[in-house]
Amino acid sequence: MIAQSTIDTVFETARVEEVIGDFVNLKRAGSNFKGLSPFSDERSPSFMVSPVKGIWKDFSTGKGGNSVKFLMEHSQFTYPEAIRYLAKKYNIEIEETEQSEEEKAITDVRESMYLVSEFASKYFQDVLLNSEEGKAIGYSYFKERGFTNETIKKFALGYSPETWDAFTKEALGKGYKLEFLESTGLTIPKEDRPFDRFKGRVMFPIQSMSGRVLGFGGRILTNDKKAAKYLNSPESDIYHKSKVLYGIYQAKQSIAKQNNCYLVEGYTDVIQFNQAGIENVVASSGTALTPDQIRLINRLTRNITVLFDGDAAGLRASIRGIDLILEEGMNVRVCSFPDGEDPDSFARKNSHDDLVAYLEENSKDFIQFKASILMGDAKNDPIKKADLIRDMVTSISKIPDRIQREIYIQECARIMDISEQVLMSTLAQLIQKDLAEVNKKQKQEQKPFEVHRNQKPKNTGYSGGDPDDPRVGPPEDYPGEPGYYQEPTEKVDILYRLERKVIEILLLYGDKTELFEDVLMTANDEGEVVFETKMKEYKVYQRIYLSLQEDEVELSNNLFRDIFTDLIAFYHQNEKFSLEQYLMRLHPEFAQEVTDILMEDEKVSLHNWEGQNIFAKDKHETIGQYVSETILSMRWFLVDKIIEELKSSIQPDNSDNTELLSMVVDYSKLVNSFSKKLGRVMSRYH
Ligand code: CTP
Ligand code: MN
Repeated sequence: MIAQSTIDTVFETARVEEVIGDFVNLKRAGSNFKGLSPFSDERSPSFMVSPVKGIWKDFSTGKGGNSVKFLMEHSQFTYPEAIRYLAKKYNIEIEETEQSEEEKAITDVRESMYLVSEFASKYFQDVLLNSEEGKAIGYSYFKERGFTNETIKKFALGYSPETWDAFTKEALGKGYKLEFLESTGLTIPKEDRPFDRFKGRVMFPIQSMSGRVLGFGGRILTNDKKAAKYLNSPESDIYHKSKVLYGIYQAKQSIAKQNNCYLVEGYTDVIQFNQAGIENVVASSGTALTPDQIRLINRLTRNITVLFDGDAAGLRASIRGIDLILEEGMNVRVCSFPDGEDPDSFARKNSHDDLVAYLEENSKDFIQFKASILMGDAKNDPIKKADLIRDMVTSISKIPDRIQREIYIQECARIMDISEQVLMSTLAQLIQKDLAEVNKKQKQEQKPFEVHRNQKPKNTGYSGGDPDDPRVGPPEDYPGEPGYYQEPTEKVDILYRLERKVIEILLLYGDKTELFEDVLMTANDEGEVVFETKMKEYKVYQRIYLSLQEDEVELSNNLFRDIFTDLIAFYHQNEKFSLEQYLMRLHPEFAQEVTDILMEDEKVSLHNWEGQNIFAKDKHETIGQYVSETILSMRWFLVDKIIEELKSSIQPDNSDNTELLSMVVDYSKLVNSFSKKLGRVMSRYH
């Protein structure tokens, strides 16, 4: 683990404009810098860097954060990777802390497996490049395939000697434990004499997104028909075949930049493409793409182009796997190669420019591609055609976006020469069927009354789609209240804005000392209890914190609640709060929202909009009043929400509602006092 002191030094040293300047061409714009978004293809700059605040905001995608967050977004680093990168950039020595025994035990196994794999990769490379056998057999094989030295290095290709246990012996001699050699599958256990799995093969290390070696593929060099051409590491604690993509480490930046990912079949295709200058390419290692692999790509782009070998049989087989990609909401294009060619052979035969041109000209939208390929078979056969229509519509029904589905329906109608209505009604049938299945599952999994009233049903499987989507609508026979699916949008909206405002206030004014009205309970001359109001100084953050404590309410929005807790803790711990310091350590998950709030005004300057300073306080207002009003309004809403919830849990035919009822009464009194106070706050300051 990296020591906190190192992390602190890194944050204090890193300048956001310098870090980003290595990747984006930044131009000065007032006190800020602006440039073209590295996350989208744009012509006019909407990417803003604020050196003063130490943050950046990409208005085209909404992303934002500090230096570390930029590296995480742009280069797909993990948090520790980003810290290490910055430490290197600024020549900061990294101090590592000791882990506790417990932590050690957990990480030790996996870490040891990583270390063994890393060692193996280095060993195989060394054998390939420096041993007589490696040079004569492995290296010359790669040369024959047309791989350059640079390519061999880039993919860390290697060679495992044609000896029973050469690698295992070397590793044991270097102190690596047999246990981990076996659990990674590099060594195959045999009582008296464990032996090398990959003996006599050229080696392709399989790396994670961040470049750690997880496993290997090894290709045999003899023509032995009995032995498998390619042998892979077995599944292990660090190698899950269904979760890795070969080449992702070398491809990640290019995928994000090109906003597209080529998907090929194997190692050699990936490598040959890289050598041809196309880096945004990964292989799924043999079988069809898994959902985990699709999600890995989805982090970088929403566009996939699947490349097929030239033979027709393989093509038809692969088409089936593609529905899975559509289901993840990705845009799929496909491109096939001439008969007898695979991406490897084709890339080797053609120049970079020709390859690029070929891909460009021959990549087709998947739905269109599928329709036209299959139409060829079905044209004159009505039964086949009916099957094809169902098949096409099934693919289309996997697409989460309604508008896109409709566009495809139109396209298909055209290609297959059939009316849109027929396709539409087939689609409707399919969606109904899906929905019925989802509902059945949902009913089995949860009792509907446990669902909170204001929540959308969870298990439709299509969350995040558009609200008009028929599939996120109510299951017909839902037994809940009639208003179940109607989000009380207006109320939610106001509360959302109020909570966001509270975060904004905490960020901008949290440390300021202001006058607030306190209500004190005293006795008057006649001995009656009276409420007396007094103005008293508070730090803004304390005031906000205490007010919410008083009602025992929490922010309703999960993200805001987390940011709130984080900010309050930060204020508590830091005598002298500085926004810059908070932003330096900004939690990556908060980055987007926090930068959104803080850069709101920069966005205005970016587009030179006039007079749209949304978050400006009213000029006549003091910060104290602004804060009081906001807190009061928010408490009002939050308490109102509690009352609603209490009321809804009162059961008419249950006699024991006393406690609930008295709570409702208490909270209602509180709400009354809020409205009075709100009036008073306003009049006092105006
Ligand atoms: N592949 C595999 N397992 C196999 C065959 C192929 O994993 N048994 C994958 C490999 O990743 C390989 C890709 O499919 O890179 C292409 O297959 P193929 O052309 O058969 O492999 P090559 O090594 O290119 O063999 P050849 O020289 O005969 O073309
Ligand atoms: Mn081949």
